[in-house]
Amino acid sequence: MMDGSLSRAAVTDARFLADVLAGLSRPDRTLPSKYFYDARGSALFDAICELEEYYPTRTEMALLARHAGEIAAFAGPDATVVELGSGSSVKVRLLLDRLTTPAAYVPVDISHDHLVQSAARLAADYPGLAVTPVSADYAAGFDLPVGTVPERTLAFFPGSTIGNFTPDDSRTFLAGLGRRLGAGSRLVIGVDRKKRRDVLEAAYDDARGVTAAFNLNLLARINRELDGTFNLGAFAHRAVWAEAQGRIEMHLESLVSQTATVAGRPFRFAAGETILTEISCKYTISGFQALAADAGWRSCCVWTDERGLFSVHALVFEDR
Ligand code: AVJ
Repeated sequence: MMDGSLSRAAVTDARFLADVLAGLSRPDRTLPSKYFYDARGSALFDAICELEEYYPTRTEMALLARHAGEIAAFAGPDATVVELGSGSSVKVRLLLDRLTTPAAYVPVDISHDHLVQSAARLAADYPGLAVTPVSADYAAGFDLPVGTVPERTLAFFPGSTIGNFTPDDSRTFLAGLGRRLGAGSRLVIGVDRKKRRDVLEAAYDDARGVTAAFNLNLLARINRELDGTFNLGAFAHRAVWAEAQGRIEMHLESLVSQTATVAGRPFRFAAGETILTEISCKYTISGFQALAADAGWRSCCVWTDERGLFSVHALVFEDR
């Protein structure tokens, strides 16, 4: 750029490269799940949400629809809705349709183009609502529009995306979110519940292979954006319920002994070696309430479905 600063794209690429090199250099290899969401990854995730096996989306949508009136009462009038990881901004419509004169919608998402398109579509459907998209990694912190009042702020964090953090990181994240939004702010958060292994593993390893494609797309993205040489046919998608940690783990398993390079740097993989690409932590209702309480969020309400698959929690941040 003319002023010598780096463009948004250059900064993003540098961060992506640094994170990938660091993750692949560890003995227990990992890649951050936030990098799943390029254009193709975002489309694949939307396809996952439609899958028979992937119960979270439709269960949470039904809960939000069923309890929209109670959520609106909880939020109060003139709310500014701040959505973390807004994706296609589909679920929030269930709330916006029921809230009393919502003032503003602030979608925060890492996938810039997807964010801007989704925000434009939503703005067209809700004339009078101030829509101000924030292109950011919400976990790294972001700025709220000036004049946002804590008592009228409703944070919305659906999808059990909180599960991508370890419980320790979730506590830190929720405490930081509360400090950012202020005492008296509210949070509606979707949290996937612990359940039988077969149900959980099928949700992350569907018969049509959409989740496998979603996982492998991370390697395709590295090949394309970071000059990588991963052979996608030589890695396989794995999803396992790690009972002791209470989480689903998604891995990419190297099927043969092989070397792949990223930006010229070689990485050797033994046959059977895996890269951990995502964790998806699951909680009991009381377990999540305790974690949130440790972070300063008092539980006001919790809704769940008759099959006990998913939970939606309503919480208030209390200054401590
Ligand atoms: C968007 C993080 C909530 O963990 O269930 C779905 C992502 N990964 N299938 C989840 C995901 C594989 C999803 N979250």
